[in-house]
Amino acid sequence: MTAAVRSKAVALTVDPPSGLLPDGDADWEPAPEQPPLPPVADESPLELRRRIEARLREHRRRLATHHGERALHAAVPGLCDVVHFRHLADGLPTPVEDLGIAGTGIWVKRDDATSSLYGGNKVRKLEYLLAQPARHEAVVVTGGGTASHHVAATVLYARLLGLETEVALFAQPPNPAAARLRSLLRAYDVATTYAASTSAYPLAMIAATIDALRRGRRPWPIYPGGSTPAGILGYVDCGLEIAAAVDAGDCPPPRAVYVALGSGGTAVGLALGLAMGGVETKVRAVRVTDALVNNRTVLAVMEAGTRALLALAGARVGSALETVEIVDGYMGAGYGVQTPESVAALQSAQRLGLPAEQTYTSKALTAALDAAREHPSDAPVLFVDTASGQEPLSR
Ligand SMILES: Cc1ncc(COP(=O)(O)O)c(C=O)c1O
Repeated sequence: MTAAVRSKAVALTVDPPSGLLPDGDADWEPAPEQPPLPPVADESPLELRRRIEARLREHRRRLATHHGERALHAAVPGLCDVVHFRHLADGLPTPVEDLGIAGTGIWVKRDDATSSLYGGNKVRKLEYLLAQPARHEAVVVTGGGTASHHVAATVLYARLLGLETEVALFAQPPNPAAARLRSLLRAYDVATTYAASTSAYPLAMIAATIDALRRGRRPWPIYPGGSTPAGILGYVDCGLEIAAAVDAGDCPPPRAVYVALGSGGTAVGLALGLAMGGVETKVRAVRVTDALVNNRTVLAVMEAGTRALLALAGARVGSALETVEIVDGYMGAGYGVQTPESVAALQSAQRLGLPAEQTYTSKALTAALDAAREHPSDAPVLFVDTASGQEPLSR
């Protein structure tokens, strides 16, 4: 286990506190999750690293032949002069499909297919967030839960650009993604600080940043979840893609767009992009984490910051905040904790061949299905599938 953090702060620990991770937890039952994943534990960190390096080489080759044009760059040509961008995703624009569930009107924006290396929502944000550290050969410092997709995606895409990462993690209920993230961190010997409690988490981020400085490296902190104005631009782009699909007649105008609400940037970016593209709808952001992390004030700050960035690039965009509605009632006992409904939604997703996971998408899908069933003859709802359809650790 890497123990590069040398901080002795009492709130921090460099080893995972017992019970946080699947190993040794006799009661741990993997959640139904897809696609089915082979175990990663029978492989040494070196073997796993070699395999991932081969995937990275393959992804670099794909990017070399894939055009990296983004709807947002076409809409705001001055943006490239204001915010740096690195082409990381080879699956954009993602398709929009009818889920075809009898008696409901529910469509899906397939953001699980954003990238053949690691899909889902994070890569859209990282195209903007990693461009700057890549110019400075900085050490990317970020964090999240012990099963964080954001952390996994950041480590992988940073590596794609030849960057080192240092991370701070807080405890979340064990699940298969936690085991995979731990394997990934070991494979790349990523310096990891575990926060002994959720309240110590900001300290853990600071400790990781200081550690990079101590090693004589330039730290480049990326806010957990990547929901800063630059990262949010990735989802403005997604909103514009949906608008283009509606314009082209590829999908009907949705009465509401359902998406998981974690750090909030995905929902805020979607609302801005949909408004810029002229789609009149609501973004129903399904809360999966504490209101302390995301609330209307936090969303308002993110939205204002993103509009300011767009204004710097010459695009005057009106507020779209009023189109975002926070949907409560689906989180259950807490972040990452399954509910009977989210387990059922995971099983439905599996039957439909739709990638989903237990922390975010299962809960957002539950809310979208409820809405679609409630008013089946109204205009359809659109579910944004933000889970990765690719698992780079699988063979
Ligand atoms: C699979 C998945 N969906 C949705 C989200 C939520 O996105 P945001 O943090 O932008 O609200 C996350 C965030 O980590 C995620 O991993």
